[in-house]
Amino acid sequence: MPATRALLPLVLLMALQVMVCGGACVEVDSDTEAVANQGFKLGCISCKKRGEVKATASVSWFFQAWDDNVSSELYTYAEREGKVMDPRFYGRLHWNGSKNTEDLQDGSIYILNVTFNDTGTYQCKFRRMLIYSNSIYETNPNKTVIMKVVPRVTRGMASIMSEVMMYVSIIGLQLWLLVEMIYCYRKISAAGEEALRESAAEYLAVESESKEVEVAE
Ligand SMILES: *[C@@H]1O[C@H](CO)[C@@H](O)[C@H](O)[C@H]1NC(C)=O
Ligand SMILES: *[C@@H]1O[C@H](CO)[C@@H](O)[C@H](O)[C@H]1NC(C)=O
Ligand SMILES: *[C@@H]1O[C@H](CO)[C@@H](O)[C@H](O)[C@H]1NC(C)=O
Repeated sequence: MPATRALLPLVLLMALQVMVCGGACVEVDSDTEAVANQGFKLGCISCKKRGEVKATASVSWFFQAWDDNVSSELYTYAEREGKVMDPRFYGRLHWNGSKNTEDLQDGSIYILNVTFNDTGTYQCKFRRMLIYSNSIYETNPNKTVIMKVVPRVTRGMASIMSEVMMYVSIIGLQLWLLVEMIYCYRKISAAGEEALRESAAEYLAVESESKEVEVAE
């Protein structure tokens, strides 16, 4: 059946979407290019290696400006509360990490209104307590993000091409679906007409037969 053949890619697409949005922890690297006067998400994800083990975690961010030679504490998040430690960032940092849990796996923060002075090295440090039935085990995963501030978005050719390809394939898929639907519809209606014509012919045949019988009587 052509209709089911046309639906298959859509079903695959949906399955892929469910896999991506399904909530499984994936360690994605942060973006590194911020745009001046816009917001920027400093990504930091550290997945718990064994999902079934209970854990609590806190996150600390450190910042070293490009013209500085020391790194200092920028932000901490513990017991569901965030605190900005660096006066240069007062009122400009928001928590973008795991919500409603102390078992943090996403420690991302969001900078409002990026300035050129925010250029530098950011380090995100997890302090995770894995709680086993008879012991507690501490791990300290960390990630480094070297962030650059640019005046406006400079998009690579590859990024533009991949977006264009995405739209082309989406439109292509829909056109294909439409063509398949029209094809299917015409086939069904042709079959319907055929049946109609057949039954009409049968009716006429029966009609003339009965007339002949009448005449004979
Ligand atoms: C991150 O926080 C900012 C500011 O609160 C908000 O606008 C943005 O939607 C958040 N992004 C995510 C992915 O949570
Ligand atoms: C961002 O900075 C600009 C200029 O410094 C200011 O006009 C604007 O109100 C700021 N926006 C926010 C959300 O702080
Ligand atoms: C950036 O840093 C310079 C030097 O420390 C300072 O004079 C300037 O006001 C800062 N700019 C912003 C937007 O914070």
